[in-house]
Amino acid sequence: MNVYDSARMAEVLAPLGYARVGDAEAADMVILNTCHIREKAAEKVYSDLGRLARLKTRRAAAGAPLAIAVAGCVAQAEGAEVLRRAPAVDLVFGPQTYHRLPEFVARLARGEGRVLDTDFPTEAKFDFLPRARAADGVSAFVAVQEGCDKFCTFCVVPYTRGAEFSRPAAAIVAEVAGLVAGGAREVVLLGQNVNAYHGEGADGPVSLAGLIHRLAHIEGLARIRYTTSHPRDLTDDLIAAHGAEAKLMPSLHLPVQSGSDRVLAAMNRRHTAADYRHLVERLRTARPDLALSSDFIVGFPGESDADFAATLALVETVGFAQAYAFKYSPRPGTPAAVLPRQVAETVKAERLATLQASLKRQQDAANRAQVGRTLPVLFERPGRRPGQRIGRTPHMQAVHAEAPAAAVGRVLPVTIVAAHPHSLAGRLAAAEAPA
Ligand code: 5AD
Ligand code: SF4
Repeated sequence: MNVYDSARMAEVLAPLGYARVGDAEAADMVILNTCHIREKAAEKVYSDLGRLARLKTRRAAAGAPLAIAVAGCVAQAEGAEVLRRAPAVDLVFGPQTYHRLPEFVARLARGEGRVLDTDFPTEAKFDFLPRARAADGVSAFVAVQEGCDKFCTFCVVPYTRGAEFSRPAAAIVAEVAGLVAGGAREVVLLGQNVNAYHGEGADGPVSLAGLIHRLAHIEGLARIRYTTSHPRDLTDDLIAAHGAEAKLMPSLHLPVQSGSDRVLAAMNRRHTAADYRHLVERLRTARPDLALSSDFIVGFPGESDADFAATLALVETVGFAQAYAFKYSPRPGTPAAVLPRQVAETVKAERLATLQASLKRQQDAANRAQVGRTLPVLFERPGRRPGQRIGRTPHMQAVHAEAPAAAVGRVLPVTIVAAHPHSLAGRLAAAEAPA
């Protein structure tokens, strides 16, 4: 979502003459688009700001001033605290106010002093962001939903991103059609809880499945994905769409967080481990080759050895093609941060290593299982080596293969010849190689 938001910021600033540059040294303004989800991400902002403050001093001495902005969820959550802790910062603004960025920059240019805006404005941000945007590449992110009403007890998102909001279906269809006209072949529909999508349509609300079916009609669009989902909002029509819609790719990121019902209840996830297993069964009935990925938290307050064992058991029975595991990080203002029985750091580290090893075994097996198969690969960009292109399988695995430049933007059959830890190596199936 932050990658998408950064692109939107670049777009609203373009009419003012701003363009993206490769590094801070060459910039007139640096915007840190920040994440507050775990303490490590939030603290990184302040170390980056220390470095940028020194650059700002050097630049002022050289007569080439540098403006520093902090955007995103750290800005939203900490607001004035950012200005206090980092005196070099000129601008602080939250995720709901990116469309006001030109106004902030103008205020700064007029010498009106430091700007702080962490409002949840009444005007809808998406109505004010530019509509027809150029495709960033073969695969494009499109925000369709923002915010979250789930209030998992560990999570800051409902506070930093605010209440669930869905963009109207027609606006999304128009945006995707524009992206496809500009060269995109795949869209990744984004939202903090994207399957809660319920955008307004011509005759009543449209579900995520309804939106996917509409998008699938766009000629030239080859692949549709969405992320990230909550098990509670995985509706029957969405499960059915996985079986029925050929453009909807057979991979799904479905965070489970824990395999222990006690912990899931304390997390306010409002589903059990059995609910999750049952959902996966129904999804795999609809789409037998569905590859699942997930998020896990270890060391949630009160998590016992038995609770953790239940998580490992869930991993074993479900089988994940890919997954992220995190140590629980207490976030200020969230209910779990003040729970008793916080888990010791050493225990968290041990459990994280154990879980990650188990997940890695599954991921390696999922990658190895592709060797010898011929898969449709959507080529996205040149690789590091000359003549090499990088694409993705339907299951999201990155594939490196020798291919002509004309392969980029096309779905071509590739025979997988080797599996590496983070990618597959393949060979274009000769008959279909483009001239
Ligand atoms: N500590 C650790 N991980 C967290 N996540 C969200 N909040 C926290 C937290 N306080 C993880 C969840 C979520 C992912 C995006 O980040 O697993 O699915
Ligand atoms: Fe956070 Fe996701 Fe839970 Fe919403 S559903 S509160 S974004 S973990």
